[in-house]
Amino acid sequence: MNRRDFITQSCLTCLGAGIFPAALSGCQSAHYATGVIETNGISVAQAEFVFEKKGQPAIRQFIVIHHDKLEFPIYLYRISDSEYSALWMRCTHQGSELNASGDHLYCTSHGSEFDFKGNVKQGPAEKNLRTFKTLVQHEKILIELT
Ligand code: FES
Repeated sequence: MNRRDFITQSCLTCLGAGIFPAALSGCQSAHYATGVIETNGISVAQAEFVFEKKGQPAIRQFIVIHHDKLEFPIYLYRISDSEYSALWMRCTHQGSELNASGDHLYCTSHGSEFDFKGNVKQGPAEKNLRTFKTLVQHEKILIELT
């Protein structure tokens, strides 16, 4: 199953299950943000999570951070205004780049899936994703890359 088929199937499944609000947040497309390299990691403005929906401010569930110096992007999931989950988007099975969809990540190479905390939900991957500590300061989210 390719990425488009997976997303389409996932969205249709959500709608079919009658969980419309969850489907809306789960099916939102990824927002890509360029991180700023700091001495101990990479940062993004919290404002990257804010977007306008029907003239009203709304909050994204997750964003994807990239930078030329990063080999793989980082998935940043918003748990609350002060708590985030940051994951290395490299599959622990054979190293393919993962795709993000709402509160989970999936690998199109062999089908592994991970939750927003990096836990394996479906193999063949056996190891959880690499995670990073996050710190919210001055309306920025710092992701510690050490
Ligand atoms: S490389 Fe991701 S499932 Fe195999």
